Amino acid sequence: MISDHLQAIDFNKKLKSWYLKNHRPLLWRQTTDPYKIWLSEIILQQTRVTQGTPYYEKFLENYPTVFDLAHADERDVLRLWQGLGYYSRARNMHFTARQIVSEFGGKFPETALTLSKLKGLGNYTAAAIASFAFNEAVAAIDGNVYRVMSRIFGIKSDMLSNEGKKEFAKVAKTLISQEDPATYNQAMIEFGALQCVPVSPNCTICPFNDICYAYAFNVQNELPVKAKKMKVKNRFLNYFIIQQGEKLAMQERTTKDIWKGLYDFVLVESTARVDSPEDLADSVMLLALLRQGSIRQVPKPYIHLLTHQKLHVQFWWVTVPENEHLDLPENIYFFSKNEVETLPKPILIDTVLKEEKYL
Ligand code: ADE
Repeated sequence: MISDHLQAIDFNKKLKSWYLKNHRPLLWRQTTDPYKIWLSEIILQQTRVTQGTPYYEKFLENYPTVFDLAHADERDVLRLWQGLGYYSRARNMHFTARQIVSEFGGKFPETALTLSKLKGLGNYTAAAIASFAFNEAVAAIDGNVYRVMSRIFGIKSDMLSNEGKKEFAKVAKTLISQEDPATYNQAMIEFGALQCVPVSPNCTICPFNDICYAYAFNVQNELPVKAKKMKVKNRFLNYFIIQQGEKLAMQERTTKDIWKGLYDFVLVESTARVDSPEDLADSVMLLALLRQGSIRQVPKPYIHLLTHQKLHVQFWWVTVPENEHLDLPENIYFFSKNEVETLPKPILIDTVLKEEKYL
């Protein structure tokens, strides 16, 4: 365990020298604009650098400043986010952009402590913004950094437990460079992303292989320790895509559940897989609909994995004659093909519409 100031200085020197030689010139590393850094960090919690970069660029094209994001329509923000998943992050960003404009005149708070009080900003994101944009000496500890620290310094506490987090934070505090905290944080993240990778790291070329605990005891695969594994919940979603002419019936999801703010179709959730819609139809509305249209099952069931949920999804396509009057359930409306295209949708819905050659 590092306890000695000199050891920390030595660690920093080696880390910085590795970073200067190896880091990727990523777009968000070329700015100190807190808005851009915030955006990049939220996107990168969601996805890898290669997939995230186009989203980052697209977002900044549409909303170059926090004012633009604050004044945007939530639907458009969600549409831009489409495909990244975890849509509450986009909604929180939109909310917080409005707050930064209304309460702080568009200026970001400059310390991790104040930043962490904003909706959607955890300790990590707050520290990342405070150090990258304002040079505050606070350690930004993401999954990469937990891995690097646990392996090099042999920290075996559960990184998801409160005590574990405290222990990592304490060691990180002794390590962080006071002179250049921004580079230190970027370097730790980059070192975890490129060198101290989760599976089969190439330790023979690692600058820390002389002091690394995991290398010495050959326990790279056992660190970091992540004890808390949430159980994955199975859900069975049965969708009815009602088409009349070129229009589709869609609804905005408004409840506190997955995909809030996105649009989907008439949905009946069941506790197990069903073979036919009749097995579901305790709803008068649904039965009536099925009678009015011709129905076909979209051939393949879809499995869609979210962090803590496994969705088993089936679709039935119901085509209703154009002159038929339909009593749609509350909050379900017909949208033209153009509108369907532009509405924010779960990526699964977008995929089905494309695979079925509707879009
Ligand atoms: N992942 C999270 N933050 C990152 C950053 N600033 N650069 C690269 N990958 C990251």
